Amino acid sequence: MLDVIAIGEVLIDFTPADPTARGNEQFECNPGGAPANVAVSLSQLGVKTAFVSKVGEDRFGSLLHETLLRSGVDVSGLSFTNEANTTLAFVHLDDKGDRSFSFYRKPGADTLLSPQDVPLDRIESCRLFHFGSLSMTHEPARSATRTAVVKAKEAGAMLSYDPNIRFSLWETTESAKQNILWGMKYADILKISEEELSFITGINDIEKGSLALQQQFGITVIVVTLAEKGCYYRLPAHEGYIPGFSVKAVDTTGAGDAFMGCLLFKLLEGGIPLHQITQDQINNALTFANAGGALVTTRKGALQSMPTTDEINKLMESKQLNQDSWRPGFHFSPPSHWLNDPNGLVYYEGEYHLFYQYHPFSTKWGPMHWGHAISPDLIHWQHEPIALFPDEHGAIFSGCCVVDWNNSSGLFNGSHGLVAIFTHADTDPESGQPRQRQSLAYSSDKGRTWHKYAGNPVLAEPGLIDFRDPKVFWHSKSKRWIMAIVAGDHVRFYGSENLREWSLTGEFGQMEGSHDGVWECPDLFELPIDDTGKTKWVLIISIGDNPACPEGSRTQYFIGDFDGQTFINDHAADHVMWLDYGRDNYAGVTWSDIPEQDGRRVMIGWMSNWKYANDTPTESWRGSMTLPRALSLTSREEGVVLIQMPVREIEQLRNESMSWSDVKVTPKTPFTRKISHDLLEIEADMDIGSTDEVHIIMKSTGESETVVGYDPVRQWLFIDRTKSGRHEFHSSFSSKHGAPMAQENGKIKIHIWLDRNAVEVYGNEGLVVLTDQIFPDAPMDTISIQVKSGQVILDSLRMDTLRSIHISKNLTEQTSRRADV
Ligand code: FRU
Repeated sequence: MLDVIAIGEVLIDFTPADPTARGNEQFECNPGGAPANVAVSLSQLGVKTAFVSKVGEDRFGSLLHETLLRSGVDVSGLSFTNEANTTLAFVHLDDKGDRSFSFYRKPGADTLLSPQDVPLDRIESCRLFHFGSLSMTHEPARSATRTAVVKAKEAGAMLSYDPNIRFSLWETTESAKQNILWGMKYADILKISEEELSFITGINDIEKGSLALQQQFGITVIVVTLAEKGCYYRLPAHEGYIPGFSVKAVDTTGAGDAFMGCLLFKLLEGGIPLHQITQDQINNALTFANAGGALVTTRKGALQSMPTTDEINKLMESKQLNQDSWRPGFHFSPPSHWLNDPNGLVYYEGEYHLFYQYHPFSTKWGPMHWGHAISPDLIHWQHEPIALFPDEHGAIFSGCCVVDWNNSSGLFNGSHGLVAIFTHADTDPESGQPRQRQSLAYSSDKGRTWHKYAGNPVLAEPGLIDFRDPKVFWHSKSKRWIMAIVAGDHVRFYGSENLREWSLTGEFGQMEGSHDGVWECPDLFELPIDDTGKTKWVLIISIGDNPACPEGSRTQYFIGDFDGQTFINDHAADHVMWLDYGRDNYAGVTWSDIPEQDGRRVMIGWMSNWKYANDTPTESWRGSMTLPRALSLTSREEGVVLIQMPVREIEQLRNESMSWSDVKVTPKTPFTRKISHDLLEIEADMDIGSTDEVHIIMKSTGESETVVGYDPVRQWLFIDRTKSGRHEFHSSFSSKHGAPMAQENGKIKIHIWLDRNAVEVYGNEGLVVLTDQIFPDAPMDTISIQVKSGQVILDSLRMDTLRSIHISKNLTEQTSRRADV
């Protein structure tokens, strides 16, 4: 039995070659034709495939016959005619390898395929039948194609369809459209380009266009190819983007056909009914297909350039390796492409949700989507499909999620579910100014699928240009929802009974705290102060980059009270408190709905800085999150202040532990240890003694070193990343910066988490925090504690190697990576 039969055009592509010695143009003769390419691609991957078409009784006809035969394709359905010549196409390539065509087909032999030529008996028994639209441009091939398609459908085969529009081959555009639409009725698997989709549906948005096709024709698998960007897919239960592979393209001919062949191969190989394909299976199949498509473009021609399974796997593996030099081992990072703010942090039915500002097409900021991941423990994350896509109201900026336990929104049919409240950002058609309005989306299936609320947007303030990043919580005292939202230079508070209608209750901040940049990403929550039984409210405000501030974007907080209407600051208006004195902790907000029994307030931030976020040197992904941190309040001389420590769940990553006590460090006797593991936790309690500065130096096998230091005279905890590795991407990256930190009886505590792309430093049990990205030239391999003068005593020192969150919790790391003590 044959697995696949493909029907359609087969021709010779004349692809430009080097000019002759005299400078005349030359063309290389490359067998091609989309369905023929697909057949060869499948055969190359080991699928038993036959091809049905017609060629002329000429030299080119024989060449095509021989080539297909040599490629392992069953050619018993390839017939010859003397009534027309084999179809020819001249390909013209531009600088990027993109093509245009001149066809010699008036008529061409392939259009003379007649219904009698079609091996109906064989079609009856194949698993998959593949067709395109170009064999429907003229009779009798149109009837032959249609007869075969109908037969395959009746016989219960899967049908795959690639319309592959070439307008010059059609008599009229309308006839192209009508014939292409005919094919849609039969397709189970459709591959279509962005331009084709918009031609067929009249819709320029691929998500909506594909939805329209799915609804009209009930096509199970729709894949929209996006050239080097990869592809978008829509299945009945889920949709998503799968990133492409960037390669050096010399000729893009056949990329779509290799893609199709690879996809069909994967779908057949799995043997899974199309309706039951899981997300992992489609991800895997489309990643394979993207790699196959990319490989074809690296060589000239199509049919003879089809990649093998080995080549595809190699490309996939090599990209895996490239991605990972600075891929964090225990900080959250996106599967690929751009990430910024954490959004929609909510705990619901045993799962922590982390949504995030995501640009699925680029490693630079762009039209924002909400990426999504789920965790049982705040440490190990499962990537989920994109939750929110831009729509007619604009891109999806930052926002939050709450659990609507009592169905106050009326969106959950008497039950409960998740509501996302976020900023829709677009351009006001009247003023041409940016417009930011607040909208809702909801999910009744634990955040797996999302519906935008039909009445969006729910809150607009036409006078405000910056009006974004709503953070909502249930205020039990006033029995209503409260939204904190920023408006340029202040935060506003709105109240609501139902999450849909909001009224302004108060404003805070115009003259308070730091205004070095635009106010963004507010959060407001109440916390106990030590064990006093008293509480205070914490207002978090991130402030955007300002070219005049070397610190770039950073986050401040206020301590005070919330009276149900507005925030009242405990401190003088000019008193500024910073959340983090490193350069890379921005837009942090806290999880909603962590159960009372747990009682924690947990925050996570975006571990980058708008100053250089778009320029950091990672390749296929950009941006990661800080560690999740539990927040608490403590009373000090200067007032109530915030304490942050990574959540206790991080301890499960500890692997090999080493500890020392009472170690004296002098200029002549530094404490130095080689390590063979680059994920580390270091905890040092020191008696500062007589030194003028103590340094904890984390050194790579290359030249890089990152220093965490303490200056007892200035009482200053700092990070020096001037030699930490790559820094040339932005002039302000290379810097030494820090924070005041008092010694307590001549002692300090420093607790460090070192990842491949970052260092997080917690001083005096979380009273002072510094979070910095680093891009070392090679993995860290030495930890050294040094003083310039005098001495310090390491009362206790502990180093733990940490397991990566990317490997299963139960696996221990390989022994060869053990710390060398
Ligand atoms: C903060 C921010 C938000 C905005 C989002 C856009 O980093 O500028 O104010 O909603 O990023 O991605």
